[in-house]
Amino acid sequence: MLRRLHHEQPESFEFTPANLEWAKGQITKYPEGREQSAVIPLLWRAQEQEGWLTKPAIEYVGDMLGMPYIRVLEVATFYFMFQLQPVGSVAHIQVCGTLSCMICGAEDLIAVCKEKIAPNPHEVSADGKFSWEEVECLGACANAPMAQIGKDYYEDLTAENFAKLIDDMAAGQVPLPGPQNGRYAAEPLSGLTSLTEHESGRTQYNASVQRAADIGDTLKRIDGTEVPILTPWVVKGGSKKKQPPKAKAPAKSAVQQAAEAKKAEPKPAAKAPADKTGVQKQQATAKTKAKPVASAKDADTGEVALKKPRTMKAPRKAGADDLKKLKGVGPKLEKMLNDLGFYHYDQIAKWTPEEVAWVDDNLSFKGRIERDGWIEQAKILAEGGETEFSKRAKY
Ligand code: FES
Repeated sequence: MLRRLHHEQPESFEFTPANLEWAKGQITKYPEGREQSAVIPLLWRAQEQEGWLTKPAIEYVGDMLGMPYIRVLEVATFYFMFQLQPVGSVAHIQVCGTLSCMICGAEDLIAVCKEKIAPNPHEVSADGKFSWEEVECLGACANAPMAQIGKDYYEDLTAENFAKLIDDMAAGQVPLPGPQNGRYAAEPLSGLTSLTEHESGRTQYNASVQRAADIGDTLKRIDGTEVPILTPWVVKGGSKKKQPPKAKAPAKSAVQQAAEAKKAEPKPAAKAPADKTGVQKQQATAKTKAKPVASAKDADTGEVALKKPRTMKAPRKAGADDLKKLKGVGPKLEKMLNDLGFYHYDQIAKWTPEEVAWVDDNLSFKGRIERDGWIEQAKILAEGGETEFSKRAKY
């Protein structure tokens, strides 16, 4: 089955502030250098925000994660859970058409969709409110036939109660999900035959229906206005990871104390050999220069302090450098860099670790500059050289 981007696309995409904060929090779940692992949750949240996954959203997520767009597109087109075309503004209805549901009446449900929504799957109804598709088994076979609408399962459906559900949703109601024939959950139709003593202590509805009933509006898309930010390890308003409390050091043995005391004894300064080669001298200088990097780190958190680099209001007269020649920088990221005041390779080549930390912070997540080696690339490009990537890069 071909899965293509829809022929009509919106101009742009942006996470709502709350969703952006959530997305940044998700990225912190992964180790530095592995942030791209957050691609599915971010695409999913983008879809929840918009209803479907647009090209600008795919590119936006690619920019956030420093991924080539084609890699993000591969993920989006591989998984059928991503809707690549517009869906109904109220609900996208997924009717299970697999064996149990089929023999229990899924075809009747599909006939209702064709009549009430649109003749073909993935077509939006004339009023723009609904769309539908047939999907594979959703794992609720004991309550067949069933359909997933929004985040909920509507089970034990008939053509009649399914048609009414759609009418109710069109009228602005949110029908109670779960079995539609009076069953509590997936017990036999004739009632429980065992564990009946637990019946009196149970909630009014089964756990998932109860949850949906408590939330109240399960059809509502996650637009970022009412989403709890489930990233308690993130300091509010930033992307800093909280450090786990430090474990108390165990008491030291006498042998350990003696060994440490010996280590602490002042050593005679090693005489520099007179015949240092040029390379050795360079290494020695580099080591001395590297010291401030370590000292810029917070002693407790190990994080590098932020420092804003020198920026420019506009590119030099000869024009801005093509920052897309840096591996990991796409058109959107280039614009963000320009907006921050960076136009030239030599600006990037001079960033210190503290300045890298500042730019990282302003580009939404940490680690991309170091991982893609922007500074090393920028140094080569600033001197008129080419990198493996810049030789291949064509825009
Ligand atoms: S066959 Fe429909 S949920 Fe399994």
